[in-house]
Amino acid sequence: MKINKCIEGSFGLFGNPIKHSKSPLIHNFFSKIMNINYIYKSYCVSKNDFYNILNNFFLNNGLGANITSPFKELAYDFSDILSKEAKISGSVNTLLKLRNGMIFGDNTDGLGLLYDLNRLKYIKKNKKVLIIGAGGAVKGILLSLFSLNCSVYILNRTDLRVLKLIKKFKFFGKIRNFNSKKYFKKKFDLIIHATSLGYYGKFPLIKNFLVNKHVPCYDLFYSNSITPFLSWYKKNGGNLISDGFGMLISQAAYSFKLWHGVLPNIDFVIDFFKKKKIIKT
Ligand code: ATR
Repeated sequence: MKINKCIEGSFGLFGNPIKHSKSPLIHNFFSKIMNINYIYKSYCVSKNDFYNILNNFFLNNGLGANITSPFKELAYDFSDILSKEAKISGSVNTLLKLRNGMIFGDNTDGLGLLYDLNRLKYIKKNKKVLIIGAGGAVKGILLSLFSLNCSVYILNRTDLRVLKLIKKFKFFGKIRNFNSKKYFKKKFDLIIHATSLGYYGKFPLIKNFLVNKHVPCYDLFYSNSITPFLSWYKKNGGNLISDGFGMLISQAAYSFKLWHGVLPNIDFVIDFFKKKKIIKT
């Protein structure tokens, strides 16, 4: 018989908006299959209240937190100690209260993405990856792509954020601005959509010559039906598509590991949610 471990303390997700998030569902499922009982709740907070609410959470029983949009940079400032991924990216998605009361900030998004891309067989070493978008979501995933020695090209509506990303990450891997005419004819092995437009039911207008039925397209966004960007990619001839639900489960599993010391069986959890039709693509 398995022994249930009970954690005297709570865990939570902080973001805004938060209603759409499946994180509480995933963490409650982890709790069940791993036989570790803990409370996991979501908190929709405003930017002005973020720091105080999080501080109170950790002063009153809080042991760990997940941070989602738009607070990953603020969570970086909130952390006392940072993992290498969090330090370089300037973005934190997981917080852990240490025994001495200090707050450790980590970013598990990159590990989560890599796990899912490998599971889908969408990535190998030394490949060319086009990322559409240059916001906070991109900061958390670049190092994982560099770890496979992939060359990353960024296509964004405006140049400023791309240039900032290049300045910050150029010492860690190959990163270029796709807006530059020099790279316009490049062929890619993988396309990753990372703008925030999915939240609003929209997608960025990009040239359809980038669509190729042999080139997989991964959308960091997920929803109950096919995402707007993947729908566009498919309509234009793309064949291999996946939304970011597998990444969500994977990054959550790595947060769980940071908090509880054990990694849930990610494939099992993804299969479970697929069968329940919570994952669509
Ligand atoms: P997140 O944390 O979700 O990444 P973000 O940091 O605000 O959110 O970044 C949003 C990304 O979506 C940016 O790449 C943004 O492009 P800009 O840098 O040009 O603002 C992109 N984005 C937002 N609205 C867009 C639109 N209407 N068309 C194309 N890209 C858009």
